[in-house]
Amino acid sequence: MKISIVGAGYVGLVTGGCLAELGHQVMCIDNDAAKIATLNAAGLPIYEPGLQELMTRNRTEGRIQFTTSMADAVEHGEVIFIAVGTPSMEDGSADLQHVLTVASQIGRHLKKFKVIVNKSTVPVGTAYRVQKCLQDELTKRGIQDSLFEVISNPEFLKEGAAIKDFMQPDRIVIGMDKSPNYQAVHQKVELLYSSFNRHHARTIWMDVRSAELTKYAANAMLATRISFMNEIANLSDLLGADIDSIRRGIGADQRIGHDFLYAGTGYGGSCFPKDTRALIQTALDCGSQMKVVTAVENVNDQQKTLLVSRLIQYFGEDFSGLKFAVWGMAFKPNTDDMREAPSRVIVQELLKRGATVSAFDPLASNEGLEAVKHDTANEAHLKRFHMADSAYSAASKADALLVVTEWKTFHHPDFEILKESMNQLLIVDGRNLYEPQLLQDLGFAYQGIGRRNQLALTFKANQRLAQKEEIPA
Ligand SMILES: NC(=O)c1ccc[n+]([C@@H]2O[C@H](COP(=O)([O-])OP(=O)(O)OC[C@H]3O[C@@H](n4cnc5c(N)ncnc54)[C@H](O)[C@@H]3O)[C@@H](O)[C@H]2O)c1
Repeated sequence: MKISIVGAGYVGLVTGGCLAELGHQVMCIDNDAAKIATLNAAGLPIYEPGLQELMTRNRTEGRIQFTTSMADAVEHGEVIFIAVGTPSMEDGSADLQHVLTVASQIGRHLKKFKVIVNKSTVPVGTAYRVQKCLQDELTKRGIQDSLFEVISNPEFLKEGAAIKDFMQPDRIVIGMDKSPNYQAVHQKVELLYSSFNRHHARTIWMDVRSAELTKYAANAMLATRISFMNEIANLSDLLGADIDSIRRGIGADQRIGHDFLYAGTGYGGSCFPKDTRALIQTALDCGSQMKVVTAVENVNDQQKTLLVSRLIQYFGEDFSGLKFAVWGMAFKPNTDDMREAPSRVIVQELLKRGATVSAFDPLASNEGLEAVKHDTANEAHLKRFHMADSAYSAASKADALLVVTEWKTFHHPDFEILKESMNQLLIVDGRNLYEPQLLQDLGFAYQGIGRRNQLALTFKANQRLAQKEEIPA
């Protein structure tokens, strides 16, 4: 089938590469000429494991091409995906300018019937607005025929595992309302995705509004699990309990399951923060409130500053003269995406308090530096930040090491090297990568998340409990 994909970002390129891999003829279009030039020169503007190989193979075999021409893209695709960004606006709602601009641009070039598939994450009612933009353009050209059908097909891939997620989806949600084209479009979309339905049906059909809301509900649910576990972890710290034991204890209940139960420095990335914000705003627009999701967001904002709070317990409020190593800048491993990464909040807090920061990320070195430059208004602060070229050089002479992203390469560092090179032996582990006892035996002061607060709080809380309930402190 001939497919066009508007937006050559994380979603667009993975969708394009994977559909080409299944034998479809794909054309990816982006209005960023530099991105298209990179793609046409056999490069990739983003990092996603396995994507380079996929692109090279399909480009060589002539199944994928890249353009900046909307006219060509509209001409090419029987099915046209919209996969452009929907960032947050000031009030938290989703900014639909890119989606609606693309809809109008498609409308300007439509000559025969196309299925328009919205893959961007968009609030309920957007399909209708896309439809209106398309129709307005047709009307301007005096065309009254029904030349399109707009359907919703939200994307659930995870950066870092996006190809596997696309190729082995749990489900493919498709929203389409009843229309004269229903049968034909249903057939075409089922055919498009038929490779995924061979074992059992993974396409789930519903009305457009439900499909649009399904995406937000899924992300809000996942974000809720993270914030919930972070709250339990913070309580565990106070009570001297261990979140990792609790995680295993509750995950074994099949109704809960083991996934998405890891406490840490909070969620970031291009989806959870903006999608929870947009959902909250959608409810407000309807005169309602998302009380749970609002709490989830508040907990997450606080969690992003937790590592710095731990350092304050240890060093006091002023970090002047101290050097901190930050391991991991990307919002999660296996991606170079810095959008809303917790590292950004942490680095800013450290710099504001006078610290020198040396960060290392196996992949997002340039992106990390660019993000810090973007966030730091004060030139003097920026001078105290640099990206190191290895994890150990970042930690050299550091007064504490902060583990922020759980890259595999950080799982088993040589602690002897760290002992010799660090100025003070303190590890604040925002991803619970290390065993507290092991680290203490090695001579480190160690603080994980919810693994008993070794630094101060457990002592205070136990004193309070001991007074109240006479349990041994
Ligand atoms: N990144 C993820 O993990 C993920 C997962 C699921 C859903 N989503 C959703 O998918 C959508 C896209 O996300 P992304 O991460 O791929 O975004 P992205 O920023 O990586 O890519 C968007 C691309 O669209 C291009 N674009 C913008 N306006 C355009 C126009 N008028 N014409 C042509 N191209 C245009 C941009 O240049 C950019 O390359 C968002 O709504 C997002 O919420 C993202």
